[in-house]
Amino acid sequence: MSKTAILEIDGKKYEFPIIMGSENEEAIDIKKLRDLTGLVTLDPGYKNSGSCTSKITFLDGELGILRYRGYAIEELAEKANFLEVSYLLIFGEKPNAEVLAKFENDIRKYTLVNEEMKSILDGFPKTAHPMGILAAMTSALTSFNPKSVDVENENDMYCAVCKTMGKFLVIATWTFRKSMGYPMNYYDNTKGYVENFMRLMFEIPTEPYKVSQTVIDALDKLFILHADHEQNCSTSTVRMVGSSHAGLFASISAGVSALWGPLHGGANQAVLEMLEEIHNNGGDTEKYLAKAKDKEDPFRLMGFGHRVYKNFDPRAKIIKKAANEVLETLGVEDPILDIARKLEAAALEDEYFKSRNLYPNVDFYSGIIYRALGIPTDMFTVMFAIGRLPGWIAQWKEMRENKEPIGRPRQIYTGSTHREFE
Ligand code: SDX
Repeated sequence: MSKTAILEIDGKKYEFPIIMGSENEEAIDIKKLRDLTGLVTLDPGYKNSGSCTSKITFLDGELGILRYRGYAIEELAEKANFLEVSYLLIFGEKPNAEVLAKFENDIRKYTLVNEEMKSILDGFPKTAHPMGILAAMTSALTSFNPKSVDVENENDMYCAVCKTMGKFLVIATWTFRKSMGYPMNYYDNTKGYVENFMRLMFEIPTEPYKVSQTVIDALDKLFILHADHEQNCSTSTVRMVGSSHAGLFASISAGVSALWGPLHGGANQAVLEMLEEIHNNGGDTEKYLAKAKDKEDPFRLMGFGHRVYKNFDPRAKIIKKAANEVLETLGVEDPILDIARKLEAAALEDEYFKSRNLYPNVDFYSGIIYRALGIPTDMFTVMFAIGRLPGWIAQWKEMRENKEPIGRPRQIYTGSTHREFE
């Protein structure tokens, strides 16, 4: 006998089914609420509302659990590589060596970006933020690939996935090349995906360029940790835009814009800027903790808190360990890391943060590794986007395959009632 929820309004009772997911999460299915009662729910920020069912990612905020297609993030970060995890998220199963090699080679078929895209890039000022350029260039890909993907056709969908994975990486690095006045680099189909990222970013025609395996491994792990996170702000945006049957590039472009915000993916840049400010102000972490607690002060402790995790973000734990390892291996002494550790220790002891279950999130330590790898601060959120791309694609594909209806929330109107326009 399945459970139900009873709602009583004006003495009348209404019964709604309670559905249960594979991890025993329960939800009241209110699909018929307005038809039966004439009422809608109100839930700003959707803190209590599920937008869909999904088989892609499971996270438990209380227990600090994160799994992609049932595999624990800790295991994937240790044992898998980014393209393997991308394939798993998008197609649902771990690829064997042959399938993974084919996936990597099929991505290589699309790593050449139409040269006319450079004229669009030229239109931006050198000072433009890379995320603004990336959102625009991703949407511009539609102009060169106008045929929208047929999600019912397996091969068409597969090619769209490979095309998006191939072209997005290249244009993401072009945003940095533009800011430096460097010539645009091309993907080297004889090299791996993550090594290509570093070459596309930093290789200049006049100097030999070598990428250390330490850097490749660290980046690969960071991309895995960012790959998906169920219905976060940017993923919900990708699903919402895709629900109108807008194309994959247009939907991903919208996701890039949502991720840019400092409350979301933009936090990794904001964390580094905050840590640098604390460092430049003599390392007075107590002053910044006081600012974060002061309701009159808009300052928030960037990299702390999470809509869902009310325990440690499991990704933050992995990244914190990796930060130590990467800096040690690269022989980088970074006083910012000491500031981060001091700030984290102080916050975790502080009643304000403890009582609100505010812990470091994925963005708190990632910037320290990016900085050690020579990635400029305003490229940190682009790094997040590169990592999140397979998750966005997977969620968009699932939404379309499930034939989800167009997203259209209701509202409660509180403005002027009818008045004559005299
Ligand atoms: C990401 O959703 C995802 O999955 C996102 C993400 C992903 O992988 O896609 O995990 C990536 O976006 C991580 C979050 C990165 N953002 C930041 O680090 C920015 C700083 N954090 C906050 O702005 C905040 O914690 C949010 C936005 C992350 C979550 O906000 P919520 O859930 O809406 O919480 P809230 O704003 O209602 O805060 C609850 C209380 C409030 O205090 P009271 O009103 O109860 O007194 O906690 C306080 C807030 O003022 N609070 C903070 C704080 N975060 C929350 N106070 C100081 N510093 C903070 N960082």
